[in-house]
Amino acid sequence: MRAALRTEVWKQAQTGHLETWEGYARRGEKGSPERASIWRAILKEVEERRPFDPNERVLDIGCGLDSVLDFTPDVKRFTLDSLMAQLRPLGLNPELMHTAGLLEQIPYADASFDRVFLLNVLDHVWDPHSGLREIARVIKPGGKLFLSVDVYSGRRYWVKRLRKFYDRRRGARTKHPWVFAVPDVQRILSEMGFEVRPPVHIPGTKARRSFFSAERT
Ligand SMILES: C[S@@+](CC[C@H](N)C(=O)[O-])C[C@H]1O[C@@H](n2cnc3c(N)ncnc32)[C@H](O)[C@@H]1O
Repeated sequence: MRAALRTEVWKQAQTGHLETWEGYARRGEKGSPERASIWRAILKEVEERRPFDPNERVLDIGCGLDSVLDFTPDVKRFTLDSLMAQLRPLGLNPELMHTAGLLEQIPYADASFDRVFLLNVLDHVWDPHSGLREIARVIKPGGKLFLSVDVYSGRRYWVKRLRKFYDRRRGARTKHPWVFAVPDVQRILSEMGFEVRPPVHIPGTKARRSFFSAERT
């Protein structure tokens, strides 16, 4: 899985995301009660592990049109999305500091953040390994990463993995170019210097979406 997408595959995936966000904006689903209840459930889980401190700097990467940070208590809130320039005209929360950029090249200094969220993003990105290495760089020692991603196991995992491998090679249009199993995520995070907890499921999210909490050592 140590690879990066071909440019056309990446661009097609981004077009797919933009169409999704434009649909959300058109149908008025941004910040919908369903999405809000998921963000609140995630924050409940996060706060049980460590309550927020008002001086914390928190980054949500791949936030899209609305963010889990819309529902946090008073902290210093930052977002990053490769589509940010296109998302601005669709309406973003003005209380957050929004930046356009790539997970694989996070435009912040080393050890800038106390907490980072990467929710439903890892299987969409250009290069998952480089992206997680960047998070390890910008997160402070002792800082927390909260990551959710769809995970597969058994035969389904291997079939999907093989299919995505060929999709990436032949430049097929897909919004999910990468496939993960729980041990994949745990291994990569450990390699990047995180201590990883066993994943949990967040009520209201898909059954296969796993939520990982990891601490930068
Ligand atoms: C499926 S959406 C997830 C949005 C939100 N986090 C959620 O849970 O609903 C994935 C988002 O990640 C962004 N994204 C994908 N690859 C990225 C990358 N390499 N760097 C930054 N953002 C990226 C996309 O533009 C899109 O807005």
